[in-house]
Amino acid sequence: MTKLDKYSKISILWDVPSQLPWALGSSPRATGQRTHQKADRSVLDNRRILLIVSGGIAAVKVPDLIRRLRERGASVRCILTRAGAQFVTPLSLAALSGDKVYTELFSLTDESEMGHIRLSREADVVLVAPATADIMAKMAHGMADDLATTALLATDKPVIIAPSMNVMMWTHPATQANLATLQGRQITTVGPGAGDLACGEVGDGRMAEVPEIIAAVGRLLRKDNRNGPLARRRILVTSGPTYEPIDPVRYLANRSSGKQGHAIAAALANLGADVTLVSGPTHEPAPDGVTLIRVETAIDMLKAVRAGLPADVAVCAAAVADWGVSNPAPGKIKKGAKPPTLRLAPNPDILATLSQLSRGRPKLVVGFAAETNNLLKNAKAKRAAKGCDWIVANDVSPGTGAFGGDSNTVHLVTADGVEDWPTMRKQAVAERLAARIAEALSA
Ligand SMILES: Cc1cc2nc3c(=O)[nH]c(=O)nc-3n(C[C@H](O)[C@H](O)[C@H](O)COP(=O)(O)O)c2cc1C
Repeated sequence: MTKLDKYSKISILWDVPSQLPWALGSSPRATGQRTHQKADRSVLDNRRILLIVSGGIAAVKVPDLIRRLRERGASVRCILTRAGAQFVTPLSLAALSGDKVYTELFSLTDESEMGHIRLSREADVVLVAPATADIMAKMAHGMADDLATTALLATDKPVIIAPSMNVMMWTHPATQANLATLQGRQITTVGPGAGDLACGEVGDGRMAEVPEIIAAVGRLLRKDNRNGPLARRRILVTSGPTYEPIDPVRYLANRSSGKQGHAIAAALANLGADVTLVSGPTHEPAPDGVTLIRVETAIDMLKAVRAGLPADVAVCAAAVADWGVSNPAPGKIKKGAKPPTLRLAPNPDILATLSQLSRGRPKLVVGFAAETNNLLKNAKAKRAAKGCDWIVANDVSPGTGAFGGDSNTVHLVTADGVEDWPTMRKQAVAERLAARIAEALSA
């Protein structure tokens, strides 16, 4: 077997397919949608969401939605329609949102204290989830016969709806015409998806899953972040490891967790950039407000990166495997007396490819150098060899905890020299790098 360096591993799954990690739902591919951990400094942090809950069965998912939004630092204030209250109680929404739940248009106290207009204006975004066929129809026709529809008509904030209904209701020409009207007015929709519906039928109409709704709200808020220093800048970020197949069940991989790359994508989005994150398999949650493209191999990562051009900036934080197996077996290699011999072939060099593009090269190309020896010497040599503008050099020797850990000690190598940054949390490294990128673009 080919000798591999100590940071690579051959992931060998010897047994029946049920032992594959994704069969158990534990692989990054299976869980990579979004985990329920607290996201660091989300685009939702400190944002105010007016959540309108209308009367669909999917209202039962709203408590989880509120919890996940608040985990990301958002504050949530709910308006519950009369029909919505048949599915979820005002008390549970109040407990989870930590705020009063508004239900009545003609409430003397609310109107004097708050008013339907202030309610809709004090939010950064208005989210309708679930959005019934009924509320969509009322919105499309400008009706305002309850607190929810009045607030929707009175708002000056971006509105996003998560429709949810029976497939026949969804495909009905009336609903589709209402949808077209709403989209024509720049109202954003998330979902619905296809699948088993609560009514027992199967088809389109299922409310988007909570992580999908949160990602869509994040994108909307980022779009709305028109004053950020990176507004209108397109930035490509790569993150995570690549998996290079040996056969359909085994692969070569490395220890990259994707934490640093994902944190950079989030930090850039928080400054208003339009970020496309091309990521190998990781367990990291998809950053809010970022377009995430999932890939496995280095070849696929390069394809996705090329498809993501043009971009103003590229940050190549992925730990792309230097080699792939040149002859992956089409079927599972059987365990025999003699172990198989792997022939490796060099993978495309994504950083060099981007840095040396003759047309459409990003203005700023940033690479990463993970080294165990002669860190700065190797990083400077890498910068020259690849033709990139900056290298973020990090020591990944055993004991530094850089791979998979939450902190990183990096040095920024530019044409002007080397900046030594103190040991920081990966999120802080990401924020500092994003700020440096903003500064460089404005210079
Ligand atoms: C058990 C039950 C489930 C319902 N589920 C949905 C649904 O998923 N989507 C929908 O558009 N309407 C659904 N409806 C119908 C709405 O509740 C009804 O159209 C109501 O007037 C909506 O009011 P609202 O839009 O003000 O909340 C359901 C009704 C019942 C009785």
